[in-house]
Amino acid sequence: MFPADKSKLLPLFTGRSSGRAAVTCQYRCGNACSHEAPNTSDNRYFGDVVRELVDRRSVLKAGAVLAVAGTAAATVGAGSAAAADRGHGGTGLDFEPVAPNTLDAVVVPDGYEHDVLIRWGDPVIPDAPEFDFANQTAAAQAKQFGFNNDYCGLVPVPGRRDTWLMVSNHEYTSEPFLFYGWDSDNPTREQVEIAWAAHGQSIVLVELNRRGRLEVKLDRRYNRRLTLTTPFTVQGPAAGSTYLRTSVDPAGRTVFGTMNNCSGGLTPWGTVLSGEENVNQYFANADAVTDPVARARLARYGFSESASDRKWERYDKRFDLAQEPNEANRFGWIVEIDPLEPSSTPVKHTALGRFKHEGANVIVARDGRVVAYMGDDERFEYLYKFVSDGKIKRGDGKYARDHNKKLLDSGTLYVAKFTGDSPAAEIDGSGKLPSDGEFDGSGEWIPLARNDKSFVSGFTAEEVYVFTRFAADVAGATKMDRPEDVEPSLKSGRMYAALTNNTDRGKPGKEGATEINPRVANRHGHVLELAESRGDNTATRFAWRLFLVCGDPASDDTYFGGYDKTQVSPISCPDNVAFDSRGNLWISTDGNALDTNDGLFAVPVEGRERGHVKQFLTVPNGAETCGPVIEDDFVLVSVQHPGELDGASADNPLSHWPDGGTSQPRASVVAVYKKRR
Ligand code: FEO
Ligand code: CA
Ligand code: CA
Repeated sequence: MFPADKSKLLPLFTGRSSGRAAVTCQYRCGNACSHEAPNTSDNRYFGDVVRELVDRRSVLKAGAVLAVAGTAAATVGAGSAAAADRGHGGTGLDFEPVAPNTLDAVVVPDGYEHDVLIRWGDPVIPDAPEFDFANQTAAAQAKQFGFNNDYCGLVPVPGRRDTWLMVSNHEYTSEPFLFYGWDSDNPTREQVEIAWAAHGQSIVLVELNRRGRLEVKLDRRYNRRLTLTTPFTVQGPAAGSTYLRTSVDPAGRTVFGTMNNCSGGLTPWGTVLSGEENVNQYFANADAVTDPVARARLARYGFSESASDRKWERYDKRFDLAQEPNEANRFGWIVEIDPLEPSSTPVKHTALGRFKHEGANVIVARDGRVVAYMGDDERFEYLYKFVSDGKIKRGDGKYARDHNKKLLDSGTLYVAKFTGDSPAAEIDGSGKLPSDGEFDGSGEWIPLARNDKSFVSGFTAEEVYVFTRFAADVAGATKMDRPEDVEPSLKSGRMYAALTNNTDRGKPGKEGATEINPRVANRHGHVLELAESRGDNTATRFAWRLFLVCGDPASDDTYFGGYDKTQVSPISCPDNVAFDSRGNLWISTDGNALDTNDGLFAVPVEGRERGHVKQFLTVPNGAETCGPVIEDDFVLVSVQHPGELDGASADNPLSHWPDGGTSQPRASVVAVYKKRR
């Protein structure tokens, strides 16, 4: 247990929505939170531009049809107190919570221990050279663990006990921490190519050894790096679209690389889905595009800069929108990686739409179709789901896997519209619960497109897929407070979504509080619980409620599933969500606006412990907790961007985690175990 040490509190910039350092905001998201949110779909400027894209009369007609097509809303089954588990017995969450702190350390509960499984620069490919911070090369980085790992997923290796392929997303590079003497005006070709190699994914074999500890194996068959130069195949209804064709790829079907891969999810067929998120920041010269429709499309996705921060356009013209305007459309997808087939070409799935994908998580519906839930992580953006046409085939043989790997290429893409059940006057923006005691209501999934058929008037199907945000605007989707990770519970089928924050809600000219996003200037975020009608994940109607309204439990504007707030850990800026085998929800945070380090939290969603949030670990200062994997024998977290603090750099490191001394901080995967007695 570590008390909060106020003397170590770090400088926090005012005006940002969370506790993130300015340098993290710049390199991770392209300063998304300090730019105008690109969703201006209620204002006149948007109306002027979009007139060229849509016929509004038809849209209204389509909306009217949808309004009468739905069935009765479901109710959220909260897990009744009658099914009581006494104490912690039924939940397994018997650890003493870790206290908030600002230490340069990973802190776990008493009785637990942790170690670093793999760090930036550690070998992935067996012949990778030793990491040498001062003498990096692109060739070395392409064989080593990449930078700033976010999502972490474990794919079991069939037939091998306690053996997995661990897939890590390397979301972004923050160059001031990669290189001594970083000169942002004059990056060298080698530095740029190192950054390309530091993006993408690492796949490594991990095994549980006889001491019950995970080990990384330098496996020649399975270990693999994907980078910004790895070919990806484009699949689904927009493959080959005119919007995806470039001079290098006139067919619009092969893209080099993936970037800004944030969160992700495992599929039931043993592959990994990964979201391409803030891809806009890597492209230059949107201002040089003169066609107003093309300009509007770029603006809706936040492509607004002239030069890019990283200046990649100097070394590859595909990052220069003036020369290759369609290259931008080839990013912003969900990608699928098959770690069990190391020679397979990874895929970009156009049927899941193009936006700032946080990730995607799949559940098999009762009838065997698969459903992917997805968030578009930006202020005032939307929640989506995809329902496949085909049904899953059971088994892990090649025939079944090849079939299942095509499921995400054909189906219906939906966007969510939420309605509250309390009078609007009771939603005053303060976070005060309405008189019915909950922020809750019903909603519908609005179809946007199914394969070559568009449901959005004025849009072709390929326009829905490539410019999904526009189509969702027109369809009347509900603007959310940064929808990040989503995870369906395999026990209940209910879906949980992290809504990180939105300090712009209620600002002049912006949407105010709604029952689903009930706080103006929302600094701490909330967690949504959604139950599909009749428990059918393919349904188009649902019920919802806010499970957590995050922040300081002592504050009136927070809510913890109805649990006694004097007993819970403070939690702010929920980001990634995962379930353990008992059905408890685990939540990692990004940007804790309570001025302490980010962490990982566990909370039961059923029974009398529902809402009892407990902090399981904290990460070093400057870092974000991501990619939680909760197994019965261990917990994995990604410790992303340790030491990314204002004023810090490779020349002035303010964190020395994990290696100590005067070392540079290195993003890592950390494994946590219960101590053996
Ligand atoms: Fe990469 Fe949405 O956080
Ligand atoms: Ca209500
Ligand atoms: Ca995230």
